[in-house]
Amino acid sequence: MNYSPVISSLNSELVREEFPVLHQKINGHPLVYLDNAATTQKPKRVIQSLLDYYAGYNANIHRGIHTLAEKATHAFEQTRETARDFIHAEHVEEIVFVRGVTEAINLVASSYGQSFIAEGDEVIISCLEHHSNIVPWQWVCEKKKATLKIIPINDRGEIEMNQFIRMLSPRTKLVAVNHASNSLGTVNPIKEIILHSHTRGAVVLIDGAQTGAHLQIDVQELDCDFYCLSAHKMYGPTGAGILYGKKHLLERMPPYQGGGEMIREVTFHQASYNDLPYKFEAGTPSIADVVAFKCAMEFIMELGHERIAEREQELLKYATGKVGALPYVTVVGNAKEKVGVLSFVVEDVHPFDIGQMLDARGIAVRTGHHCTQPLMERLEINGTVRASFAVYNTEAEIDVLVEALERIINFLKRS
Ligand SMILES: Cc1ncc(COP(=O)(O)O)c(C=O)c1O
Repeated sequence: MNYSPVISSLNSELVREEFPVLHQKINGHPLVYLDNAATTQKPKRVIQSLLDYYAGYNANIHRGIHTLAEKATHAFEQTRETARDFIHAEHVEEIVFVRGVTEAINLVASSYGQSFIAEGDEVIISCLEHHSNIVPWQWVCEKKKATLKIIPINDRGEIEMNQFIRMLSPRTKLVAVNHASNSLGTVNPIKEIILHSHTRGAVVLIDGAQTGAHLQIDVQELDCDFYCLSAHKMYGPTGAGILYGKKHLLERMPPYQGGGEMIREVTFHQASYNDLPYKFEAGTPSIADVVAFKCAMEFIMELGHERIAEREQELLKYATGKVGALPYVTVVGNAKEKVGVLSFVVEDVHPFDIGQMLDARGIAVRTGHHCTQPLMERLEINGTVRASFAVYNTEAEIDVLVEALERIINFLKRS
């Protein structure tokens, strides 16, 4: 592959040039953006793509025969092709556009759950899950009188594989776990999870919210049944995401929402449904966001997952060493394999207070339970401070964070 100069060197300064939002002051200090697990910033090419669409060829897709509609439809479908390459799906119809991971999981829970989960069945999730991968399964289980089981974790924040294997039974219909934890950074052994689940006949959904921008995803190699991604966590726009599903499963699943585009024919008495993937894409989608998502995936592919992961591991290691060495600080989540997420607590200080004081110095981190309240309960904490890294972060920014934390801790512990 031919890399542009920015990309070939993975030079932080050049990469940062691609992200206009990074070049500003917050509360009088240069912005240090360390909230990438919540959402990543957008490179110029993604912003330009949104502008090009609205300024040049805004039109509704699929239904029109005029030139703009054809151009918009072509661009929209081009993203589907890129997405297929990005996750190495076998068929392009296996890529369903949704608003993000939350909608992707709700789609599967509602549609697959409605048809294939019955009374007495079991659904397994892990203790590390985001609320988006808990609540939809609670609803299915309640509705179908099925049981929701939770894979426990050890104190490092890793899934207890032996216990998971023991939990599997012929009653297990579906296993839903994240590829990486947004709160602790733990990378789960999803290949093994998928293999064991399949031997018991269960299908597996992977929540890839925290991996799309950080790790290589090959759905065929993983053999997962469903994989979910959010564009906004992958340098792309909000309002767009992907549900990958194996074709033979999507074909057997009923539509999730009714409306335009998902039908073949409608009378007042009944409707027949469109082919995949349109059966699951009712109504006008977030066209501009899907179109621009292509540029975000291309950006990641040009950088290369391997080089991104390598760079982010350097940042994680550097930050963990420095932050972990501060007095009164405990790092939360010490899994052997992690993405660039560093969660920590400061003894007797509420994470929210740390977050506010960091913001006063231009440093953006996330504080609280990170939409993983059951995990916080398991860890017996009310929340953490979370610094999460992306490819544009630098060691110098981590130094700014560490210096600010040192001052804040000194101040709080003296007063
Ligand atoms: C692990 C995980 N799953 C699901 C979600 C929900 O993603 P979205 O809000 O893009 O739908 C998030 C968002 O933070 C997440 O980190």
